[in-house]
Amino acid sequence: MRTIIEPFKIKSVEPIPMTTPEDRHEILRASGYNTFLIKAEHVTIDLLTDSGTGAMSAKQWACILDGDESYAGARSFYRLESAARNLFGFKHIIPTHQGRAAERILFSILGGSGKTIPNNTHFDTTRANIELPGGEAVDLPVEEGRHPELIYDFKGNMDVDALRHLVVSRGPSNVPLIMLTVTNNSGGGQPVSMGNIRAVSEVAKEFGIPLFLDACRFAENAYFIKKRESGYGSRSIIEIVREMFSYSDGCTFSAKKDALVNIGGLLCMNDDDLATKAKNLLVITEGFPTYGGLAGRDLEAVAQGLEEGVNERYLEYRLRSVEYLGEKLLSQGVPILLPTGGHAVYLDSRRFVPQIPQEEFPGQSIVVELYHVGGVRAVEIGSVMFGKYDSQGKFIPPILDLVRLAIPRRVYTQSHIDYVAEAVGEVYLARERLGGYRITYQPPLLRHFTARFEPV
Ligand code: F0G
Repeated sequence: MRTIIEPFKIKSVEPIPMTTPEDRHEILRASGYNTFLIKAEHVTIDLLTDSGTGAMSAKQWACILDGDESYAGARSFYRLESAARNLFGFKHIIPTHQGRAAERILFSILGGSGKTIPNNTHFDTTRANIELPGGEAVDLPVEEGRHPELIYDFKGNMDVDALRHLVVSRGPSNVPLIMLTVTNNSGGGQPVSMGNIRAVSEVAKEFGIPLFLDACRFAENAYFIKKRESGYGSRSIIEIVREMFSYSDGCTFSAKKDALVNIGGLLCMNDDDLATKAKNLLVITEGFPTYGGLAGRDLEAVAQGLEEGVNERYLEYRLRSVEYLGEKLLSQGVPILLPTGGHAVYLDSRRFVPQIPQEEFPGQSIVVELYHVGGVRAVEIGSVMFGKYDSQGKFIPPILDLVRLAIPRRVYTQSHIDYVAEAVGEVYLARERLGGYRITYQPPLLRHFTARFEPV
């Protein structure tokens, strides 16, 4: 088989910063050992997130100039509406400045105290937007999704029996919405099968509860369905996408991922009453419904990005480039979550540094050392991000304790990825020297963004 090449060439370049291990030692200390608090100008390869960090195409940059900046009824809105409707099929397409703005609006309307919202696995902002108005966010991943070393095609699936049990036990009237995150980011960028989407939608219908997709990485999910699910191999990505959305009643969408833009989001639904309420809130917090907190140029770039994001050659390269990094790490014996996800490779912190107790944040230790060794910025998705404490203050660890190496779209070349694999390999060789961390400051919600640490 020939090498799957980047299906683009580079027209504009940006230098990447280089620092020494001594610089990075000092930078880490000054940033409280939290890589979110490091200046990007001190990061050589930035794998903090794949969100808003992609490279736009020449056509998208042309859209930036072509955007219609009219306050109301801009042509760029109608282009975006038509591009989103063409793929997702929903009646109401509401722009927001990013995904979490859509979440906030949705849960301000449907959530609140006494309400439970199940998901395969909630992303951190989704969970926070449910919990802030007093609701309960419940994760129901399938059993296979809880075991990092197990190979299974659709580890992002929701446990349908557990969903039914939850709905019955809470009472359907207390479950205003069921969500499915495609791909399942916090569960390792793992896909959800068409069969699972259908099965979840049947439970939702049976109890009269709307099903919404958290659709950030819908195109990557569709490509996995094409490659792995029987009956979909000869279907086009667009057909698969349309079928995925056809089982749902709406979606929240961060365009910063599969729509290949630096900012933007959508809240979509079929229900007229819900749409009216959402638009009323939108006007207060985001903007008029034909721009929703975005500039006309952003709307135009999202519309173009939606078309490029479902291109099959692009998706083939995209998933292969992530898998390539996974293979390089496996060949060095590094424990990663298997199989590799759509947008990221996840290190399994528990197996990487088994000597560090859960409450001393093993993933954070790996993240710090990876930056120290190579100037590579990753993110902890484990005890720091999702760890909880019971009423006695005892630590409750999350299901998975991971470090995510998220790959920005169309940004890094194969040699950048080779360099990352070398840096992770170096950290792994020195793993026995790594120690834990303790938190010296944390905010009440989403602590990973601003917490400060010190070595134990
Ligand atoms: N849902 C999922 C599954 C996400 O991954 C994200 C963002 C959001 C919702 C929120 O979207 O950032 O546009 O407000 N994920 C980024 C990440 C931040 O790094 O995984 P947003």
